[in-house]
Amino acid sequence: NDISNKDAKEEVAKKVAERVKDGDVIGVGSGSTSFLAVQAIAKKMKYHHLSVTAIPTSHEVEVVCAALNIPTTSLTSQKPDWAFDGADEVDEQRNLIKGRGGAMFHEKLVMASSPENYILVDPSKFVKVLGENFAVPMEVDARALHLVEHQLSDFPVEEVTLRQAESKDGPVITEAGNLIIDVRFATIEDDFETRLAAIPGIIETGLFMGYDVELLTVQ
Ligand code: A5P
Repeated sequence: NDISNKDAKEEVAKKVAERVKDGDVIGVGSGSTSFLAVQAIAKKMKYHHLSVTAIPTSHEVEVVCAALNIPTTSLTSQKPDWAFDGADEVDEQRNLIKGRGGAMFHEKLVMASSPENYILVDPSKFVKVLGENFAVPMEVDARALHLVEHQLSDFPVEEVTLRQAESKDGPVITEAGNLIIDVRFATIEDDFETRLAAIPGIIETGLFMGYDVELLTVQ
């Protein structure tokens, strides 16, 4: 496989742009592949004079949409016709780990609100078992940090790291004002998404198990 990741991301970005029709309200994911897709969509809108509205999943992609003159709305007032997003890992059952960019809460809200979801993945994202390359990110209310760490002892946890910001001192603070912990598991079972969501203080996790998603990729 000699196609570079960058080329692969550009190719899947083009594939998602092919699906865009006039009048669509589209849930727009975060991350580098989604950014490329937004650029491809903006080009198509301009060329074919299409009117499209985006529901962004992060401030970052909202700003990208604004810069490219794609009008945006939010889940508060509209429902997406379809949505796309990237992923960090995809297993053979199309279960996902997401949230390298920390936007998994909003990403999951958009995915769960959308009747059709496309996941854009370059070949580096495919894994035999989830957790091969990435820890599972979890958005946690700061007041629940100790409680969550304690409750995680019911799971086969190998390591818990509080995510630190690269560009400033201190931890990453999410758009909702919460912290992110990255949790490495020895194994990840199908019911972990639900069991983790039941722990008070875990706002959302980057485990997306059993969602009906269609993969857009390159061979
Ligand atoms: C953002 O929070 C993530 O869920 C991204 O969708 C994921 O990290 C994929 O990013 P890339 O497209 O940059 O690989």
